[in-house]
Order: sequence, then C-alpha cells, then structure tokens
Amino acid sequence: MKVTVFGAGTMGRGIAQVFATYNHDVLLIDVEQKFIDNGINGIKSSLNKLYEKKQINEEPAKILERIKTSLKIEDSKGSDLVIEAIVEKFEMKADLFKKLDEFLDPRVIFASNTSSISITRLASMTKRPEKFVGMHFFNPVPLMKLVEIVKGEKTDENTVNYVYDLAKSLGKIPVKVQDYPGFVANRILMPLINEAINALMEGVATKEDIDSVAKFGLNHPMGPLELADLIGLDVCLDIMNVLYQDFGDQRYAPSPLLKRMVASGKLGRKSGEGFYKYK
Ligand code: CAA
Repeated sequence: MKVTVFGAGTMGRGIAQVFATYNHDVLLIDVEQKFIDNGINGIKSSLNKLYEKKQINEEPAKILERIKTSLKIEDSKGSDLVIEAIVEKFEMKADLFKKLDEFLDPRVIFASNTSSISITRLASMTKRPEKFVGMHFFNPVPLMKLVEIVKGEKTDENTVNYVYDLAKSLGKIPVKVQDYPGFVANRILMPLINEAINALMEGVATKEDIDSVAKFGLNHPMGPLELADLIGLDVCLDIMNVLYQDFGDQRYAPSPLLKRMVASGKLGRKSGEGFYKYK
C-alpha cells in the first residue's frame, strides 16, 4: 500500500515511521525542506533507539528506504490513503483536502490526525465525506498504542473498518469513536492538564509536586505538567478552546496561566521552555 503523510512535524514523522516500519511505502510531504529534514532526522534517531533496544528487527536504513519525501502535494497521486498531520488550523486543513479532492482518485481514503477539529466539518469540504475519517495517533507515535478512529456524520462503515484493521496491522490498538469535541482521549486528558495548571496558578503545590502526585499517587507515566510540555502548550490551549466553545460549558474554560504561557512563547519542549526548561 502507498500512503502519503502530510506534515513532517512530531505527529506526521511518527506516523510515517510506523507505516514504513510495517512495510508500507510512504511519501512524506511538507511545505519546506527544513521541515522534511527535521522530520527525517527525528525518524532516524527514533529508529536507531528502537533498533538498539531490539524493539524493531529490521535495520533503520532499510526502513528509511521506504520513506520518500516531497514538497509538492501533486506527488501524492497514486496513493491509496492520505493522512493529514499539518498544523491544527481548520482553514489550512480544509484548503489541503479541497486541493487533494480535485486530483486524487475518488477511491482514495482521506484521514486526518486532527486532535480537535470536527471530522464532519473537514469532510464536508470534499466530495467524498463517506471516505473521510479521523485517525488520531498519540505522541510519541512509535511508542503509543492507541489510535482513535473517528467516524464523521457521513463516514461509511467500510471506511471506518478499513482504517480500524489497518491500525491493528501496524501493531496499534484502535478504538472507534464518534465525532464529538475532543473525541474521547482529549475530552478526558485536557481537563486534567488544565486543572493541574490551575492548581499551579493558585499555588496549591509546586510544579514538581503536582507532577509527583500524578506519577506516584495515580500511577501516570508522566505528570500532567510534563505531559503538557511534551504535547505543546499551544496544542493544549487550542483543544481547551474547542471544548469550551463547542460544549459551551464553563468547566472547560482554559486556564489563565496556560493562556499567559502560550502568549509569551513558552510552548513546552519544542520551544525549549514550558513548565520546565529543556536543552
Ligand atoms: N521513539 C523511540 N524511542 C523513544 C521515543 C520515540 N519517539 N520517545 C521516547 N523514546 C524512548 C526514550 O528515549 C527512552 O529510551 P531510553 O530508556 O533508552 O532512554 C524510552 O523511550 C523511555 O522513555 P523515558 O525514559 O523518557 O521514560 P518513560 O518510560 O516515561 O517513557 C513515554 C516515555 C512513553 C513518553 C511515557 O512517559 C509515556 O507514556 N508518557 C505519556 C505519553 C502520553 O500520554 N502521550 C499522549 C499525549 S496526548 C496526544 O498525543 C494526543 C493529542 O491529541 C494531544
């Protein structure tokens, strides 16, 4: 199968890596060569780590041979599946899908890795809403088992079942979810992170202690503030805004501290500083 992944950022590169690891030919497309180069470097270092730890058996160089790259969306012609993992902006995603819809064969399935934008709304930008589905992976993609398979209002069962089986064949654990704000994972996770940020803002405990509570009292692998840094504070804020607007419920109001940190450019690991500092 040939799959095209749009976006070589954290999620897109992870998705490309997983498909290539499981023997698929992948085309990774982004808008600038530097994004592609960063993506490929990230894939290389992840594959090397996994190979050293014997979590994959095939040599990284062989897996990398199955990943081609491009700056032109037209090169996705001939794909069986496209997965979009570009920035979380509706207009940009809609624009990409509209363009793809014009030249890709009508049988090609369109999947979005969006964490918060409505699949139904994105699908309505194309003439193939029945072939449009959410495939929501988790960070870090090579290690996290879950994939939320999101059914839009018009997505047909064949499409849902196809990507469900495909995710399974990649060693993942797919779950089917309906198209509601935050789907399931972020509807549960983001209010937890937001509340941890409010607790920090109110001085209930230090950041280290808030994270310790979750790690040693709730057995979470990471504390919520460390996790927010991993996900990206801008992404957390975007998702809280979607939950707040779409449910219209005060309990989803984004923390003022989260808003302040994003406004100041403290976005977590990717910017070098969030709740913690990174080299
Ligand atoms: N590829 C390969 N190896 C990786 C990796 C990657 N992408 N990322 C981390 N690793 C490796 C680390 O290098 C480390 O290797 P060493 O032990 O050799 O140093 C190993 O994995 C274990 O990592 P850590 O020692 O840092 O510790 P860990 O046991 O805590 O595992 C973790 C890391 C898997 C990230 C774990 O902390 C975890 O599960 N955290 C929670 C992650 C989570 O909740 N993700 C979901 C976020 S929400 C989301 O993604 C959806 C959304 O829409 C926002």
